[in-house]
Formats: sequence, C-alpha cells, structure tokens
Amino acid sequence: MSVLLQTSKCIFRKPFNNTFCKYVFLRKNSDVPKKFITFDEVVAQRRAEAMRSVVVQVNSDSSFNELYGYCSKYASIKDIHHYKNSGGEHFMVIEFASEDNLKDVLKSCSSHNKDHDVISVQSPFLWFRAAVGNKEKFAATGKKLAVKNGTEICNEDVLLEDILNCETVSDQIQLLYEKTTLNDLSIRLRYIVARQLEMIFNSLYTNVKIQPFGSSVNGFGRMGCDLDLVLMNSITEEMGAASRRLVFQEKRSARQLELAGALLELRVAGVARLTRILNARVPIVKYAHEYAGLHCDLCYNNSAAVHMSELLWQLGELCARARALAVLVRRWAAATGLTQPHPGRWLTNFPLTLMVLFFLQRTGLLPSLNRLVSEAGKEDIRIAEENVNCTFLRDLNKLPADSYEQNDDDLQTLLFKFFEFYSQFDFQEKAISINEGKPIRKPNSLPLYIVNPLEQSLNVSRNVSYEECERLRLEVRNAAWHLESCLDGKKSDDWGILGLIEKKSSRGLKKLLRVGNSHRLVSMKDLFSDNDNEPSVEGIRSKMQKFVKTDKEVDTSVTEMKSEMSKEQKSGKMKFKNSQTASAVYRIRRDKII
Ligand code: CTP
Ligand code: MG
Repeated sequence: MSVLLQTSKCIFRKPFNNTFCKYVFLRKNSDVPKKFITFDEVVAQRRAEAMRSVVVQVNSDSSFNELYGYCSKYASIKDIHHYKNSGGEHFMVIEFASEDNLKDVLKSCSSHNKDHDVISVQSPFLWFRAAVGNKEKFAATGKKLAVKNGTEICNEDVLLEDILNCETVSDQIQLLYEKTTLNDLSIRLRYIVARQLEMIFNSLYTNVKIQPFGSSVNGFGRMGCDLDLVLMNSITEEMGAASRRLVFQEKRSARQLELAGALLELRVAGVARLTRILNARVPIVKYAHEYAGLHCDLCYNNSAAVHMSELLWQLGELCARARALAVLVRRWAAATGLTQPHPGRWLTNFPLTLMVLFFLQRTGLLPSLNRLVSEAGKEDIRIAEENVNCTFLRDLNKLPADSYEQNDDDLQTLLFKFFEFYSQFDFQEKAISINEGKPIRKPNSLPLYIVNPLEQSLNVSRNVSYEECERLRLEVRNAAWHLESCLDGKKSDDWGILGLIEKKSSRGLKKLLRVGNSHRLVSMKDLFSDNDNEPSVEGIRSKMQKFVKTDKEVDTSVTEMKSEMSKEQKSGKMKFKNSQTASAVYRIRRDKII
C-alpha cells in the first residue's frame, strides 16, 4: 500500500472517471484535515520508508514464508513485496517497522564471498542463502506477500485490447494512465536505490544526500522509466552556523562526479555498464542497476532540477487530468517518433510535459507559475546552486480555489483541444512560458522556444531542429484530425487513442498479425514451421484463415509484410531460419517499436 495511504485517510473522487487520490488528509498535531500535502512531505515519507527497507534476492516468490520467519527473529516486519528483474531473478522488498529494526537486521548479515578481492559494503541489497543443515521450521503466520511481480510492466497487447474495449476516449486515456503510471513498489525501489548510494557516500562524507528527481517523482513517470538521481551536499542550517567554531578542513574539487563514478563502478553492488558523460552542461554518470532493474543517471549538486520536479508534481496535484493527459501525450510523441530514447535534435519528455501544462493553464485548469510565486511566503524561499531562484508557493492549501480547475472538460475534449491548440500555435513568433501562462514573444529565432521555468533566460528545447519543429506541427494536426474522425462513433481498430499511441511503421505488420478486430497478436511461431526459411504467401494465408480476416485483407497485409520482409532481408537485417528466431525477431522489433 502506498506510503501516503498508510499514514493518511484518503477520499477518492471520480470527477472524470479517475481514481486519483486527490485529497490526502495527513494527521498533524491539530488533526485538521489538509486538502494537499507538500512534495517535501511525500519525499520525507518515501525516504523514511527506504531507511527501514531492504531488498533481498531469493530463489522464488515461494521463499516468502522462510524469509518472513527468518527476518522476524531480528525485527518486526511491516510488509514484503515481490518483484523480478529483467534477468528473471526474484527479489523481496522488506519494509521493517522502524529504522532501528533495519539496523538490527544489517548487523546480523554476513559476507558470502571469501574471495580476497571482495570487501563487503553495507547496503540494503542482500541475498538470502540456503539454510545449512536441517531446515528451520517457521510457524504459519497467515501473512502474505503484499504484491507479487510488483514491477512487471503491463502486457502491451492486453493493454491495447483493453483500450479498444473502452466506452469513451476519456476512459481510454484514464486506463492508459492507470495501467502505465509508476506504481508504489517501483517508487519504493527507486528510493532504496538512492538510499544504497547514500549509505556508501555517507561513509566518506559528512552529510550527503542522494535524491531521486525527474519522472520517478514528478507524477508523470511511467513504469520502467529511468531513474534520475542527484548527489547533494546537504548542509543543514545547524552545520552551517557561524557559532560552531570548529570547522572541518576541506578539500576543494570540481571532480566530485569522477569519484562518484569510481565508487559506483568498484563498490556498489548491482551497478553495471557504467558510462561517464562529464563534458555535458549537466555532467552525469549513467549506469544500470541490475538488482533493481533500473537505468540510472546520477548528477551532482543540481537542486534546481529537484525543485523543477517539485513544481511539476505540484501542478499535477492541482489538476489530476494533467497527469493522465501528459502520459498520453508522451506516449503519442514516442509513437510518432517526435521523442526518441536517445538524445538528439528532437523533443524530450520534459519540454513536452511543459507544453501540456502550458495548454492546461490556457484552459483555466492550472495557475501560472507567476501566480504561485506571488502567493509564496518566506518559508517558500529556495535558492539553488548558481543563485537560481526556486521560490514558489509550496503549501497548495493556501492557493485560492478559483485559481485552478476552472473547467469541466473531460479528458477526451482536453486531448482534442490540446492538439488543436498546438495546430494553431504561432511557433515562429511565440515562446511557451508556464511562468506567464500565456505565449510570449520569442527572444531569438530558434525553431521551438519553451522557457525554462526556473531559469527564464534558458530555452529547454534549444536542441530541437527546424525539421523536428515542423514535424511537431504536422503531427499535432494529424492527431487532431484523427480524433475528429473518431467522432462519427464507429470503432475501428485504431479507434480513439489507439491511432495515436501505436507506432505507424508497425501498423501494417500488426494489422496482419491481429486476431480479428482485436489487439491480440498472432504469434510468429504460429506462422512459420521449423523448416521455413522464407514464408510463402500461400502458407501464411492458409494459416491466417484461422483468424477472422477476409482474403482481401490477408492479401494486402501479406503483400505489405512480404515487401517489408524482403526490404529487410535485402539489407541483411532479417533472416528467419526457424520459428524460434522468427518469433524472437518479432518480439525484439515489437519491444523496440513500443
Ligand atoms: N530538467 C531541467 N531542465 C532541463 C531538463 C531537465 O530542470 N532542461 C529536470 C526536470 O526536472 C526533469 C528532470 O530534469 O524532469 C529529468 O530530465 P529528463 O530525464 O530528461 O526528463 P524526465 O521528466 O525524467 O522524463 P523521462 O521519463 O523521459 O526521463
Ligand atoms: Mg528522467
């Protein structure tokens, strides 16, 4: 159960078919219910949860009873969650009742490797080895796993099928959001990965903090998104007090991230495929965390980025529809190729999210950032590195109710209006500014100008080329046109958001492989026999007859597929030797496509 739900009472509102936990009531001294909690409160709860949690590698989910019984000897357990990494290895996230409980458990740990090159490092990532001698018997407790396979990403074909079966486009958008948004266990795991680094760095430094930021915490993340981390020198007011006359002698260095990279590479369990990108505007160390199944980017002293995540999270809290809409728009942009998994001269998710927020400001659903700044008090003052002013109202309960959600449009209407709005936007002359909440004159001639909300002299889309901006204009028009054409009520197989979130280049192939009018796909294995070197039209047609398609549809699709295959075969990319390779190739292509 979510950390918020454990500590608070929650009322679910269903204004737009959603099940957002919009109003969270925190029990404070006064016990007065609050409509909104702050980002800092959420982060504090998640950090505290991570500080009393460990991740234990186990044989399988049936190791639960034994692990529960064994750990209960040392500490009181709150919950155990199960997940698998991409290698199919099983892990349990155990949350203990207190941080002291966790310390007791860590004291009881041993090192399993007698190799001279290994020196154990304290970490929340552990391994549960097989019992020696007679297996201990643990009395049944009636306790169960809180969740099994908790980080599994929703099967794409099932998701598309469910979306196809939705009644309205609004329902489709809501479903996509609910099925793909980052879940509780994934967030827990992200804070534990941050905690693992923090434990190691704190054995070297006096007071460092590792803080997740970006889509892992800003409310716009999807299952499987990368984890952005920042290593921060967090000097408390007390530590910085001039009255403390004994001061640590310090070593100045601009190469903090180099050491962090070396530590990660050499001392942090689970870290693999580390690369350093140190000459970028924001230098980062990239790595894969194999136990957590995450791709991580670590940067140094970048608290403005954390405040940016806080701002995005706050705007999402003010208007639940913003999150569902942004998730859809991010998916659409990926499907059209407007965003790509690697950096280049195209849009990325962050500026795209700002475009959604800006549009919602224009429709009266969100306040401008200037409004949040004007409502800020002295408790909201935050100055980041290089004097970046990150001051804006933190306690949203103080925001006048008439400054947000002043519009009852459902998600379908908003989505259509979003595409229509950007179809007509004057990208040539105007810049997008969520500070103003209205278009402003572009300060230079870059093709796309989206003002960085916390450093207004910067353009967060300065990398976007003229061609990519033109493509954006074309794709928003196509999307508006597609949604408009859905209004006739006929439900084709790309009805509603399906026509927006499926990659076009895969549609021909997918159409062929679909079972009837559904989004369930025929497996390649069903189409090729082990002896097939190359599929024949007749062979495929006869196999496809089983599925509900007309001959004409099959002919067209087979021709499309044959031409696609022959193109790829000519380029040496694709050669089916047997059914296993055929289905593996198809799976790889499909995974790459979506
Ligand atoms: N950020 C920023 N200024 C930029 C780019 C990014 O402040 N010019 C901050 C934002 O808080 C952003 C975070 O860095 O959310 C991480 O950036 P990125 O990983 O590119 O975006 P995400 O929002 O995390 O989206 P994704 O899921 O694609 O990683
Ligand atoms: Mg990110």
